[in-house]
Amino acid sequence: MKVLVTGGAGFIGSHVVDTYIQHGHEVVVVDHLRSQKKKRVHDQARFYNVDIRSEQFEWVVEQEQPDIINHHAAQKSVPYSVKDPLYDADMNVMGFLNVLEACVKHQVNKIICASSGGALAGNKIPATEDLEPQFTSPYAISKYIGEKYLHFYSSHYGLNYTVLRYSNVYGPRQKADGESGAIPIFFNNYLANQPSVLMAYPDQPRGTTRDYIHVRDVAYANLLALDRGENEIIHIASGEEIHMEEIYELMQEVLGHELPLFRKGPRDGDVKRSCLDPSKAKEILGWEATVSLREGIEELRELHQCVKGEIS
Ligand SMILES: NC(=O)c1ccc[n+]([C@@H]2O[C@H](COP(=O)([O-])OP(=O)(O)OC[C@H]3O[C@@H](n4cnc5c(N)ncnc54)[C@H](O)[C@@H]3O)[C@@H](O)[C@H]2O)c1
Repeated sequence: MKVLVTGGAGFIGSHVVDTYIQHGHEVVVVDHLRSQKKKRVHDQARFYNVDIRSEQFEWVVEQEQPDIINHHAAQKSVPYSVKDPLYDADMNVMGFLNVLEACVKHQVNKIICASSGGALAGNKIPATEDLEPQFTSPYAISKYIGEKYLHFYSSHYGLNYTVLRYSNVYGPRQKADGESGAIPIFFNNYLANQPSVLMAYPDQPRGTTRDYIHVRDVAYANLLALDRGENEIIHIASGEEIHMEEIYELMQEVLGHELPLFRKGPRDGDVKRSCLDPSKAKEILGWEATVSLREGIEELRELHQCVKGEIS
């Protein structure tokens, strides 16, 4: 199959590209490289340095005629979406519409889209896909609007889709840039010999909770979605709720070091608890998480530590 991956130079997208190539698929990558580097892109993938919002994007689709588009290019920062909702919508709504229009004009069979289970989870632990999202940020709204557009393009033009709503993804190649969750930040603090900060609540002294999923498991879900999960929205998550302090303790154990930790009061906009129910992924895609948090952290320890803020 020929797959065009948008955002294929990014953290998750680059693992998706590698997995597709390992399984014999032909891959084309479109990425504007504002936040990532081309070195991440597999050398067997054809690369276009193009913005998904530009007219050139449609030209690439016309040239390449992919069977499937896998969409990972996005504005992914929740705080940035609060600061600049216009930019967030430009990227995640207008950019996405440009991708959908190109799909329809050039008879792409299917689109696989990365969405956010954490941002869109309803008020229940573990959250199922059918719950009404809480819309606590413009990012959550723009991702949700994308899902609604998909529904329209599917019913109106017959474009097939699968939405994969991820929990907190971690693993090699992730930047510790403040948007990436605790693991790379804790890890980099450890490598730089700096203390970490835990945001605690009076009723949650061990910090917020999250559901962590390894990036290779996420990439494998994208492989299965090539021919499964038609017109479905599916959580890709471990289903295990873990406190920030538990992650910190696990890291200390794996790294064999006592690490200093400071507690601070709650931070504005933090979601206190987050955990997703992954049973639909098992039922529809035949997918299950395979990498435990301990294994994932051990792997990061083995990998060559840190290159300029990035666990590579
Ligand atoms: N990282 C997570 O934990 C997580 C969780 C849920 C959902 N997601 C979603 O997964 C997707 C990928 O996230 P990531 O963590 O790999 O982010 P990332 O920033 O590492 O990757 C995104 C890539 O898209 C590219 N890109 C951004 N805007 C573009 C544009 N206009 N045109 C072309 N390329 C563009 C960037 O250069 C980058 O290489 C995003 O849609 C994000 O919302 C991520």
